[in-house]
Amino acid sequence: MSIAFENPTAHKPKINNLSKAAQKFGILPYPDLEYTDEVARATAPLYEKVKTVIPAAEWPIHAPYIYAINKLKKQRNAVILAHNYMTPEIFHCVSDFSGDSLQLAIEAANSDADIIIQGGVHFMAETSKILAPEKTIIIPDKQAGCSLASSITPADIAALRAKHPGVPVVTYVNTSAAVKAVTDVCCTSSNALNVIESFGTKEVICIPDEHLANNLAKQTDVNIITFKGYCEVHDQFTAEELNEYRAQDPDLTIIAHPECPPSVVDVADFSGSTKDMIDYVKNNRPKKVMMVTECSMSDNVAAEVHDVEFIRPCNLCPHMKRITLERILNSLVYLTDEIEVDPEIAIKARGAVERMININKKTALHKVTG
Ligand code: 13P
Ligand code: SF4
Repeated sequence: MSIAFENPTAHKPKINNLSKAAQKFGILPYPDLEYTDEVARATAPLYEKVKTVIPAAEWPIHAPYIYAINKLKKQRNAVILAHNYMTPEIFHCVSDFSGDSLQLAIEAANSDADIIIQGGVHFMAETSKILAPEKTIIIPDKQAGCSLASSITPADIAALRAKHPGVPVVTYVNTSAAVKAVTDVCCTSSNALNVIESFGTKEVICIPDEHLANNLAKQTDVNIITFKGYCEVHDQFTAEELNEYRAQDPDLTIIAHPECPPSVVDVADFSGSTKDMIDYVKNNRPKKVMMVTECSMSDNVAAEVHDVEFIRPCNLCPHMKRITLERILNSLVYLTDEIEVDPEIAIKARGAVERMININKKTALHKVTG
């Protein structure tokens, strides 16, 4: 099927100076980023996937990057892992695997590619390196941080341990490798409850997200000691704004990420990890849904699910939005920014991440075998 674009040359991307630099370093030639007939033809099936969320006028900007990235990643034996918060042109058009933090970590460990390009934030790329130290892990922008990861240090964990001797420490995967290295086990929003209950203790330290910990505390008898870390994106949502939407439209289904304040989760019909939220929409097909989370996720689901109306009071994660098609292409040409983790820290952090993955496997097995 051919796509009619209005005056595509008006949207022709600027070819930057990287072409010369790439030749100088003797690495892959930087591709010409022209919206040619060949690019239009080759990318037309991809546009079909995203046409409900990307205006036709924007496609000639994205398509040359998408075409070049998909060619280069084969030459490099690279895979692109995309978190659910990546924009649709990344999520649907260049990624090889997409998912929540837990799924991406497992995929990094299992992938047989030489190079992993992490479409996500720094802690995700570090987790990939921890699990796959022999692989080249690249993040298209090293500045892509996370307010939770930067909220806590190994010294904070030491202080918590001193205050609560013998209490196990469960660390959210949204943390640095150095913090993971001094904790007992990691968790993500999709497995936090299982991990917390896996110790069989009365108390557990669960850091650094206070909202996640307080949301979990409502679902378990384990006493949870927490820390004052917050996701700058989910912390902004309020119960008042959700109640206003609900008052206008009582049929609205509201689903919220557990990094939101407990008062927000209380108003929601469902709460879960980004994967759980996506599955909820796909399996339940609510007429109208509000995904109380980062903005791109609704776009990514809306591209696939056409019988659901998405109401979008959402917040952008400025760190996730640092990952763009242009930066992914640069990272494939130059293999930057490469993630390195001190091997001693990496071994200890790996223990904490692997313990989490094993708890997850056991729970899955238990569900299957009853
Ligand atoms: P998920 O593990 O649910 O994908 O969450 C990661 C994240 O950063 C949410 O803000
Ligand atoms: Fe971190 Fe929040 Fe961004 Fe997720 S959405 S990466 S928790 S700042």
